[in-house]
Amino acid sequence: METKISEIADGIYRLSTYVPDIAPPAGLTFNQFLVLGDEPLMFHTGLRKMFPLNLDALNRIIDADRLRWIAFGHFEADECGAMNEWLARAPQATPAHGQIGCRVSLDDFADRAPRVLADNEVVDLGGKRIRFIDTPHTPHGWDAGVLYEETTRTLLCGDLFTQLGNEHVMTDGDVVGPAIAAEDLFKYSSLSPGMGSTIRSLSRLAPRTLALMHGPAFTGDGAAALQALADDYDRRLSDPARLALV
Ligand SMILES: [Fe+2]
Ligand SMILES: [Fe+2]
Repeated sequence: METKISEIADGIYRLSTYVPDIAPPAGLTFNQFLVLGDEPLMFHTGLRKMFPLNLDALNRIIDADRLRWIAFGHFEADECGAMNEWLARAPQATPAHGQIGCRVSLDDFADRAPRVLADNEVVDLGGKRIRFIDTPHTPHGWDAGVLYEETTRTLLCGDLFTQLGNEHVMTDGDVVGPAIAAEDLFKYSSLSPGMGSTIRSLSRLAPRTLALMHGPAFTGDGAAALQALADDYDRRLSDPARLALV
């Protein structure tokens, strides 16, 4: 396995590792995002077992000592499994997450005390501005949230829009159809009644770039893509056949 680096928006880097053994033959990518600024932030730590790969990739962009913030979408191995490895390697870094995630998991799990982010709280990274948005149970996890980088209008949307394969680093094509196909296959979302409206509310940000954790980075009408994804979840929740979990 190798970790490839691409700049997907001004000063935002995608560190991508393709794992062909997951859902073969298409495989799945695992992407971390480094947001540069006076206080660099990484979104997702990556799996603990991928830490050497991701550390090597990050060190090709900045020295890991410079990392100031480590954030993620929800408590899960690919999201934050390597958190303590990063905290040991980056002495200035502080984990940051929403209130539920800090109180339920990070207060115990993280080797350094986390910074608790309120819903819609903005952190000025110096050159970049990160907004944390609570999205409980969307797509899964009580503590779930996303990050929006305001200066580049980039939504770091975690597992939303998950798709198989490794065809593109960037795309301006359809990201909704492949996301629906991956949901049909993995059944990874909580499918709570509020899921559609939570995703639809993110469309008000009108992001220019959607940074997918598992898939390419989408550039284009992010609001339309979010609305279409929300519509599909609403339809799924009202269709017993599509709700079947087996
Ligand atoms: Fe997840
Ligand atoms: Fe994920």
